[in-house]
Amino acid sequence: MSDKHYHLETLAIHAGQVPDPATLSRAVPVYRTTAYAFKSSQHGADLFALRESGNIYARLMNPTEDVLEKRLAALEGGKAALALSSGTAAIYFTITNIARQGDEIVSASNLYGGTYTQFDAILPQQGIKVNFTPVNDFPAVEAAITERTRAIYIETVGNPALDIADIEGYAKIAQKHHLPLIVDSTFTPPSLLRPIEHGANIVVHSLSKWIGGHGTAIGGAVIDAGNFDWTDPKFALYNEPDRGYHGLRFAHDLGPGNEIAFALRLRTVGLRNQGPTLAPDAAWIFLQGLESLALRTAKHSENGRAVADFLKNHPKVAWVKYPGDNPLAQKYLPDGANGMVVFGVKGGAKEAQKLVDSVELFTIIANVGDAKSLIIHPASTTHSQLSEEDQIKAGLPPELIRLSIGLENKADIIAALDDALRLL
Ligand SMILES: Cc1ncc(COP(=O)(O)O)c(C=O)c1O
Repeated sequence: MSDKHYHLETLAIHAGQVPDPATLSRAVPVYRTTAYAFKSSQHGADLFALRESGNIYARLMNPTEDVLEKRLAALEGGKAALALSSGTAAIYFTITNIARQGDEIVSASNLYGGTYTQFDAILPQQGIKVNFTPVNDFPAVEAAITERTRAIYIETVGNPALDIADIEGYAKIAQKHHLPLIVDSTFTPPSLLRPIEHGANIVVHSLSKWIGGHGTAIGGAVIDAGNFDWTDPKFALYNEPDRGYHGLRFAHDLGPGNEIAFALRLRTVGLRNQGPTLAPDAAWIFLQGLESLALRTAKHSENGRAVADFLKNHPKVAWVKYPGDNPLAQKYLPDGANGMVVFGVKGGAKEAQKLVDSVELFTIIANVGDAKSLIIHPASTTHSQLSEEDQIKAGLPPELIRLSIGLENKADIIAALDDALRLL
C-alpha cells in the first residue's frame, strides 16, 4: 500500500505489510527462522557485499520485524526503524551508535530510573560522559554542551515527576550546535505525540508499555527521522572508515542510504556485531498492539483525566500531577495525555503505602502501560536506592503514589481509589 495518504489509525493496521506472497495469509506471519537460504553462492556473495538487499541471518533481519519496523517508521513519520530486544537496549545502542570513548551526551535529568543508571553508571565505564541538566532548563543545556558533545537526550514525559519536555526548545539548541536530538517517547506513543514533527532526529521507544499494551512482551524500537547530516567530522563513527565493514564510511558510502546512515549503521554494527535482537514472536505481539493503539491511548487518556480530576477534589489527597494539566500539553498532547497520574496523600509515606496495600483492582507492580490499572509507591521500590534528598531532586516526595491507569470502566477505577482513600 502507499502509506503516505493514510491517517494514523489506518497506518497502524496496514503500513509495512503486503499479504505473505507464498500463503496469502492476511495476518502478519511469525517467521520463526534463524537464517535464510541463498539461491546460489553468487546470491549469498551479493547479499554479504550489500550489492543486493535481502535476508541473511535473523540476528539482523526478520520479515515479521520488518513489518513492525516499517509500521513504526510510518507512524512516527521517520524514514527507517529498527526493533531491538528491549527499550533499554534501544537506548544503549542508540547512544553507542553515535558516541564513543571520550565523547559526551547532554541529557535531561528526569529520566526513567533504568536509563538514569545506564547514563550515570554504565556509559562512564565505557568512557562516555553524560552531563545531566534539569528538564527545560535551556541555559543549563547550552552551558553543558562542549566540543565533545555528540547528542542531546530527553524523555517526552519524565518518570515519575511526569513533566513534559519542550521538544522544540531542545531541537533549536540541537540544531544550533549540530547535534542529533534523541527523544524517548515511550510515555507518549505516536497516537498521542510524534516528536519528529517537533524537530527530533531519533525517537526511541520501549515497546513493552503502551505499544504492546497488555503487559505481555519486552521490546524496544529506534526510529530514524533521516533528517540529520552525519558528514560532520566530529561524528567519527560515520566519517572514519569502519574496520568491520571493508572500510565503509557510513555518512558517505551508502548512496541514497546516506540519509538513513544512523539506522543502517545500527543494523549493520549494532544488531550484526552486538546482537540485541528482538524475538519474532514478540514483534508479532507488538504488531497486534499497534492495531488498537489509537483506541487504547484515547481510553487511557479519558480514564487518566477522570482519575486526576477525582483525586484533585478528594480531601485526603494533598496534590495531584497529570501531564494533561501542564500548559505544554496544549502544544504536545492535544489528543490526550495518556494514563499516568501521580499524587500525594496527606500523611506521608506510611499513608501512601497503606493506600497501595488496600486498593482493589490495581496491581502493585513496577510497570506501566498495561490494559490493567497499576499502582506503585516509587520511594520504597523503584527509587529506593536513592537518598531521600536525591528522591526529592528527582521530583519524588515520600508520599508520591504512581498510577498507570488502565482500560477498565473509569467508574470502577475511581470507586476502588475512593474506597482505599476512605480507609486512611
Ligand atoms: C520511559 C522509559 N524508557 C525506557 C524504558 C525501558 O524499557 P524496557 O523495560 O523495555 O527495557 C522504560 C521502562 O520502564 C521506560 O519507562
